[in-house]
Amino acid sequence: MMAMSIRPIIIHPDPRLKKVCAPVPVITDELRRLADDMLETMYDAPGIGLAAPQVGVLKRLVVMDCVKEEGAAPRPMVLFNPEILWASEETNTYEEGCLSIPDQYADVERPAEVKVRWLDRDGKVQEEHFTGLWATCVQHEIDHLNGKLFIDYLKPLKRQMITRKMIKLKREKARA
Ligand code: NI
Repeated sequence: MMAMSIRPIIIHPDPRLKKVCAPVPVITDELRRLADDMLETMYDAPGIGLAAPQVGVLKRLVVMDCVKEEGAAPRPMVLFNPEILWASEETNTYEEGCLSIPDQYADVERPAEVKVRWLDRDGKVQEEHFTGLWATCVQHEIDHLNGKLFIDYLKPLKRQMITRKMIKLKREKARA
């Protein structure tokens, strides 16, 4: 087995975070390796979800693990070409964050439950009904594949404020 590696996470604003990503036609070893790297990167950050465009790969792939109970077994999930088949009318509001928008959080309202279909790392079709944090996370990550960020749900003023902070952060990082 090849060693996994942590990949740099792209910080907003960046044109790669605004692109609609391409479906994955065949799951190759290279893509499995990318998924493993993304999980490693996500756990290291730490975060509960990561989408391929956040590491600069414009393909429809997300990883997530929303297990947060202390001592519970991790559940690393790899989702290629995830699709929302059904969303509940009932909504849920979570304070969301994003590894591409560090240290910024805001309430986002989304369907409380979703049914999602995807291909797993072996190319097998999977379906699951997600609730709670998992439902929010999978929708947030699928949004990334469509070039959409959680701040796009906020009022323009708040979004611009966060974007300005990120521009400043990137400038500081570039100087360091
Ligand atoms: Ni995100």
